[in-house]
Amino acid sequence: MLIANTLHKTFHGEGTPTLALNNVSLTVDQGEFVSIVGRSGSGKTTLLHVLSTLLAPDTGELTYHGRDIGQGGEKELNQLRHQDFAVIFQFHYLLPYLTALENTLLPFMNTLRPVSSQRVARAKECLARVGLADKTNRLPSMLSGGEQQRVAIARALVKEARYLFADEPTGSLDKATGQDILTLLRELNAEGLSVVMVTHEQQYAAQADRVLTMEDGVITNGHTVPLHGLSGTAKEEEAQAMVAGG
Ligand SMILES: Nc1ncnc2c1ncn2[C@@H]1O[C@H](COP(=O)(O)OP(=O)(O)OP(=O)(O)O)[C@@H](O)[C@H]1O
Ligand SMILES: [Mg+2]
Repeated sequence: MLIANTLHKTFHGEGTPTLALNNVSLTVDQGEFVSIVGRSGSGKTTLLHVLSTLLAPDTGELTYHGRDIGQGGEKELNQLRHQDFAVIFQFHYLLPYLTALENTLLPFMNTLRPVSSQRVARAKECLARVGLADKTNRLPSMLSGGEQQRVAIARALVKEARYLFADEPTGSLDKATGQDILTLLRELNAEGLSVVMVTHEQQYAAQADRVLTMEDGVITNGHTVPLHGLSGTAKEEEAQAMVAGG
């Protein structure tokens, strides 16, 4: 389980500092699909980057399986996080000079060892999973926007992560392709992958188990804790509130 507690993050650029996260707390249970919506600049990407540990919060805690990962943490934990967390970026960052297969293999690439044949097989499996079995050797420039987005998803799947953080995975896609991506994410979620997805589109957000809305660095609605994570009485109260039209 991933728990964020009272996160704050301020960016100091030119002019007045921006409070991008203002006292944000939430829990993402194993196996959940949570979506985050909100206006441009409301802090969605910042939250996703802090949850996925790409960005350290100024204050507040982030715990994963009961251990503090907010500020980096020890080496062993870094490895666990590297294995368990995968990110799809708002701008999907495929390398233009690498093929779909090579882009998918990126999480495995380092300068010390060549990529094993098992991993190449795994990457091909992931590309097949997102419907690109016949395009593994294409460069991004030879793929459509939706296909490029699917390579980015394959790259996130290749590690067999437990948590997927997806920032606008349907951005700049037409409706049918966007829905295909959503359907794929739901399928992966049904197989056990926890998903945190940022989106502008209500129709996609509504397909999550829970929708959180951000405004000016604050989560303003929704259950920040999953219903089944609440105590018996709290759960009943929640259920009653929902039946009563809450
Ligand atoms: N590196 C940075 N330096 C300075 N300010 C930043 C930086 N990154 C984000 N911000 C500011 O923090 C606020 C939140 O940005 P963030 O990218 O989280 O918004 P967002 O909700 O993802 O927006 P969008 O929907 O446009 O992607 C914005 O006001 C933004 O200008
Ligand atoms: Mg963003």
